[in-house]
Amino acid sequence: MNFASDNTTGIAPEILQALVAGNDGFALGYGNDDVTRAVERRIGEIFERDVAIFLVPTGTASNALALAHVSPPWGAVFAHAEAHILTDECGAPEFFGAGLKLVGLPGVGCKVTPQTLAETVSHYEGHSPHQVIPSAFSFAQASEAGTIYRPDEITALAAIAHAHGMKVHMDGARFANALVRMNASPAEITWKAGVDVLSFGATKAGALAAEAVVFFDRAAAAHMAERRKRAGHLLSKHRFLSLQFEAFLNNDCWLRLARHANVMADRLAAGLAAAGRPPVWPVEANLVFIALPKLAVAKLKSAGAQFYVRASDSLPGQVKFGPDQSLIRLVTSFATRPEEVEKFVELAAKV
Ligand SMILES: Cc1ncc(COP(=O)(O)O)c(C=O)c1O
Repeated sequence: MNFASDNTTGIAPEILQALVAGNDGFALGYGNDDVTRAVERRIGEIFERDVAIFLVPTGTASNALALAHVSPPWGAVFAHAEAHILTDECGAPEFFGAGLKLVGLPGVGCKVTPQTLAETVSHYEGHSPHQVIPSAFSFAQASEAGTIYRPDEITALAAIAHAHGMKVHMDGARFANALVRMNASPAEITWKAGVDVLSFGATKAGALAAEAVVFFDRAAAAHMAERRKRAGHLLSKHRFLSLQFEAFLNNDCWLRLARHANVMADRLAAGLAAAGRPPVWPVEANLVFIALPKLAVAKLKSAGAQFYVRASDSLPGQVKFGPDQSLIRLVTSFATRPEEVEKFVELAAKV
């Protein structure tokens, strides 16, 4: 019953096999190999656009380098206050961005509304050179609460950002989970809706360690290659990043893996709701949040269930529950088995 994170899994068999098969022989380093070229073409096909791609091994590197590339050091990057870039990246965006400023915004279910963005940005005008200047809006798709932004919401947010000269960055650590939930294409939820740069995640979805920074305007990616190298994130045996992505995208493997993770989250949510503990936010990807009595949390843990407990005061105004309750996060993945879900639900109903 491991629901701690989608990075507690192993590697999806298709990807592991591709790594083993690709281990034979030699290939040029630093991304100058045929597999890397093929992956670049494939990602371009998926997004129906000529894109510039930079593979890196971690989501933090992907987010931080993407933001550093679209924001000057005196820029402000707006994102939800609970966004991974603000809470879990140890200042990497600010570090690689040479001091850029992250500004956390409120919003239910870890989503920023167009109204909030517009209102906030209006406070960042007319005070030059004393104040940082709005440079980017970043949002996670799926969000850190497991909710998703629909194409019309992205379009509205991007319109505000662009009207203020800002770029739009999507943290797609769980891009596949969000995509398969929607009746929309990868293009429709990214560049067609106004996204300028995407951190396209494969790690949580089944890879060992592979993330792609995708620029939808090639010109905007000028010197990103140097930025990645300078940051120490250009892998010399780069083909192993590309092999992961190739297998991930091959035969819709990525969509299949994400669908499974989402179905497991849906089952978990339905079972817990039937047991009187409905999720606190809509389950739209592979994350389920429920409020539970602290005693029940302790009993679940001692029965071997693994999950994280969120600090009760970390989501101001979003979830209301008493001091004897905790908010717990349950994450499913491509590797979650239905039996584990059933066992957890049964146990939760008992405690
Ligand atoms: C929303 C989000 N973005 C990015 C990441 C990537 O982080 P890492 O640097 O651990 O790969 C994570 C991982 O937890 C995440 O949840």
